[in-house]
Amino acid sequence: MTGRHAEAHRRSLEDKDGFWLEAAKAVSWTTPPTKALDASRPPFYRWFPDGRLNVAFNCLDRHFEAGRGDQDALVYDSPMTGKVERFTYRQLTRRVAKVAGGLRSLGVEKGDRVLIYMPMIPEAVIAMLACARLGAIHGVVFGGFAAPELATRIDDAKPKAIVFGSCGLEPGRIVAYKPLVDQAIELAKHKPKHCVVFQRKEQRAEPVAGRDVDFADLEAKSAPVDPVDMASTDPLYILYTSGTTGIPKGVVRDGGGYATALLWSMKYVYDIKPGEVWWTASDVGWVVGHSYIVYAPLLLGATTVLYEGKPVGTPDAGAFWRVISEHKAVAMFTAPTAFRAIKRDDPDGLFMKKYDLSRFRTLFLAGERCDPNTLLWAEEKLKVPVVDHWWQTETGWPITANCQGLEPMKVKPGSSTKAVPGWDVQSLDGEGRQVKAGEVGVLAIKLPLPPGSLPTLWNNDAGFLKSYLQEFPGYYKTGDAGYLDEDGYVFVMTRTDDIINVAGHRLSTGGMEEVLSNHPDVAECAVIGVADELKGQLPLGLLVLKAGVSKPSETIVKEVVQMVRDSIGPVAAFKTAVVVKRLPKTRSGKILRGTMQKIADDQSWKMPATIDDPVVLQEIAEGLKTVGYAKGA
Ligand code: COA
Ligand code: AMP
Repeated sequence: MTGRHAEAHRRSLEDKDGFWLEAAKAVSWTTPPTKALDASRPPFYRWFPDGRLNVAFNCLDRHFEAGRGDQDALVYDSPMTGKVERFTYRQLTRRVAKVAGGLRSLGVEKGDRVLIYMPMIPEAVIAMLACARLGAIHGVVFGGFAAPELATRIDDAKPKAIVFGSCGLEPGRIVAYKPLVDQAIELAKHKPKHCVVFQRKEQRAEPVAGRDVDFADLEAKSAPVDPVDMASTDPLYILYTSGTTGIPKGVVRDGGGYATALLWSMKYVYDIKPGEVWWTASDVGWVVGHSYIVYAPLLLGATTVLYEGKPVGTPDAGAFWRVISEHKAVAMFTAPTAFRAIKRDDPDGLFMKKYDLSRFRTLFLAGERCDPNTLLWAEEKLKVPVVDHWWQTETGWPITANCQGLEPMKVKPGSSTKAVPGWDVQSLDGEGRQVKAGEVGVLAIKLPLPPGSLPTLWNNDAGFLKSYLQEFPGYYKTGDAGYLDEDGYVFVMTRTDDIINVAGHRLSTGGMEEVLSNHPDVAECAVIGVADELKGQLPLGLLVLKAGVSKPSETIVKEVVQMVRDSIGPVAAFKTAVVVKRLPKTRSGKILRGTMQKIADDQSWKMPATIDDPVVLQEIAEGLKTVGYAKGA
């Protein structure tokens, strides 16, 4: 690598202390750090061990104090309700401080956990920042998850309180949250003392006496509180993400490292300046929402747009262009699937022509592999750089990107460009040796991970070691496979575990298999991720029934589809399953999921040498044909 990117990358790895202490100057510390990396307990690393700060202060008060009080901090745009609301830094600071006071009056203090189960409304952001102000650790749970998923998070995080909205709004339906919260608390062993309910007028929730407190009342009657001074290494939040089983992993994020990394990224990856309008179309329940709807733009003093709507259908494929032009956004960030949906509905990009997009500079895409067609279509129609960048819940900010504020580089469609400064990305073989340029291997990051990435899993150091650090000592295993080319461009190809990516949402097929196997008539099952033009991947179930089951297969399929919806949530998008006689296995009994997926997607495949009975694959192909897959088999 040559040039500014190469130089910054080299320095970030060779002089970690110098590089990150310099970056940390952008943060407002109560006690500035004198040291960047704490490497005293490898493979557990910490950043800015002696620094102290409050992240919410950095997101709010300090801009207010620096003269940005009357600038919009947050613009809420909701085609679902027809509302647009603006909150200046002054207003947002005041609301956050009062809600923090309200939480404190319920007994929430520094280090306590608060789960937030909210739709895309300003109060979700306010609740997150109120926790950060108090030093309480928030755990936001995506609204598309069902009650059992919420229950697992309650039992793991043991929150003192849950903040929830009375309902979410999906096109054509209202999602009542309270029944889900009630069921989750019923299922969980840990019983939170309080729930704070934000009542939306679209559908109110009947409060539970003695448990539920009204959000608006609590805010109105509480005195504002000052930001609580925190160690840089104190947890700011826990964000649960799919692992290889039904039990999600509680990714922990610290405060000081995260604030430093996000501020660095806004300048050098995204090239955004304080005062500019930035829009991330995701959900606060995902990492993209945490980092780039809430924390990064507010840390910077930019204006962030909170959008409660879809790329299409709310009301049409011009929704994104309306938001960009109406709020004068200079850049946006979303998942490729959103652009596939727009392209499907408006292939010629006619809606774009109706809006003034003259201020719009860059489109950032992440969350799933970006197919070159979508990238090239967006580039051609928008006539701005389209940046595909790769990251994960665990990393908190991009691992690879075409850093717009550093040195925009040549685009290679299919590649998320090069390792961002701070990240030492390598492709390894099974023995942990680096493979040659162009050869696919396991994508791993040499330790230490940079600031902002997970220091551990919540209350689970052993799980952190086992999931990420043990297989390749000295490296963090990303769970993705791919390669680096001769120029150091990274191509992320596929997951190496059972995680699939559905419309930019990360899901565990293992978790879905656990649900299917609970059906009384199912003897054995497998869930595979099959290719989908819109969502990238979709889950598909294969069911082997117990001997003597007389119930029609269609009924069983309907039942398992409902079970996944009730247990994991609508976001799993599990709609298709097929009953087969047997599952293909190796002689040692391992189910050949990869081969079934290739057959379903009509990709070339080889008969595995270890298969116990080759005839089974023919039967599987026949079964898949009945649900529209394996057309060429
Ligand atoms: N609360 C409750 N239900 C939700 C939900 C939420 N917050 N978000 C999604 N769902 C539901 C949807 O209503 C849908 O339900 P259905 O089965 O009754 O139709 C189901 O979960 C699947 O949702 P999704 O996969 O998002 O499909 P969709 O058909 O509603 O929309 C897209 C498709 C492409 C428009 C949509 O996925 C999208 O906008 N994606 C943008 C990508 C994104 O935000 N990624 C996040 C990471 S960056
Ligand atoms: P999540 O933790 O939900 O953000 O999902 C992270 C996973 O999404 C990664 O491990 C990848 O599998 C996938 N992913 C995210 N961004 C990209 C990208 N730009 N290219 C390819 N895969 C991506």
